[in-house]
Amino acid sequence: MSTTILPTDQPPLMHQAVEEAVRLLQSGDVVALPTETVYGLAADALNPQAVAKIFEAKERPSFDPLIVHLPDKKLLDTVADVPEDVQKVVARLIERFWPGPLTLLLPKKPCVPDIVTAGLPTVAVRVSNNPVFKRVAAALNKPIAAPSANRFGAISPTSANAVLAELDGRIPLILDGGACLHGLESTIIKVEPGTPKALITVVRPGPITIEDLKLYAKVQRVTKTLVDEASEAPGQLASHYAPRTPLRLLSKPSEFTPEEGKRYALMSFRGEEKDGYIDLADWEQVMILSPGNGKLPEAAVRFFYVLRELDKLGVDEIIAEPMLEHGMGTAMMDKLRRASVRRA
Ligand code: TXA
Ligand code: MG
Repeated sequence: MSTTILPTDQPPLMHQAVEEAVRLLQSGDVVALPTETVYGLAADALNPQAVAKIFEAKERPSFDPLIVHLPDKKLLDTVADVPEDVQKVVARLIERFWPGPLTLLLPKKPCVPDIVTAGLPTVAVRVSNNPVFKRVAAALNKPIAAPSANRFGAISPTSANAVLAELDGRIPLILDGGACLHGLESTIIKVEPGTPKALITVVRPGPITIEDLKLYAKVQRVTKTLVDEASEAPGQLASHYAPRTPLRLLSKPSEFTPEEGKRYALMSFRGEEKDGYIDLADWEQVMILSPGNGKLPEAAVRFFYVLRELDKLGVDEIIAEPMLEHGMGTAMMDKLRRASVRRA
């Protein structure tokens, strides 16, 4: 199979690209689409044979369920039941954050095939705010199952070229919507009733931050790092987001002494000498996430790109500077910790 990339950056091109994507999705095929978080590998969520092609292309194990993307927030009750005791808080969250990078775990409706939810009684749902994705979803007018468009366990793609690097020859089409706005996957939450406030459990931290969610409910995080199939988000394996190159996350500069003859690359937060990391070694390469002041949302946009680039160098080890654990720093630190647990 050859993989085509179609541009969307001019109105007639957008029109053609969306039409071709919808044609493939209607015929039960998969298409990679941009979202505001990362690129997704999309299929008609209500067609189990189409969804099976996602698992095949990604080499994703069948125990790992997919996120369902709705064309419009009004359609939530077509795929999920919102329990009576959390209806109010869920309505407020949806009003505030949809369309956008927030995924809700809710009891599923019978129309959602088991292959989508890996047999779980819940379904993960969100509505994307990406202009290309929105057009495709509106024209298809069906829920779309879409995990990140990378091979299982690998780094999420935030550009059409990164999707190609992951899935070339395995999927027919990629719509090129440029770089993703946020650069990190959606925040996944579970909502439970509570007094006086509902309880939100953040299963995967992301662009909608814990600070954002605190305005709506009491918020807790799932803190386990060694997660398995029985966990809150089955795809959140400890070894996820791993580059092929070993990665080490430091908590302070003095933790690292380079070994003679080994080659190292540095993922630096803001590239400032005074932070103490730049002069630690004779780095093969230093890539800076947010030069100067170090802004977390800017670092997030470049995060997976930088990780992918450093992984191409073939060094012995990638060394990562720590980031502040608030805002989007929470999600990046979570990913760096998972990436630094080596695969068995
Ligand atoms: O931003 C995003 O969420 C991107 C874009 C494409 O929408 N999608 C994405 O999907 O990150 P994926 O499959 O790479 O990650 C979805 C995570 C997985 O860890 C999966 O285990 C978890 O969501 N998940 C899906 N359905 C679930 C469910 N019913 N219960 C618990 N976890 C679930
Ligand atoms: Mg993923």
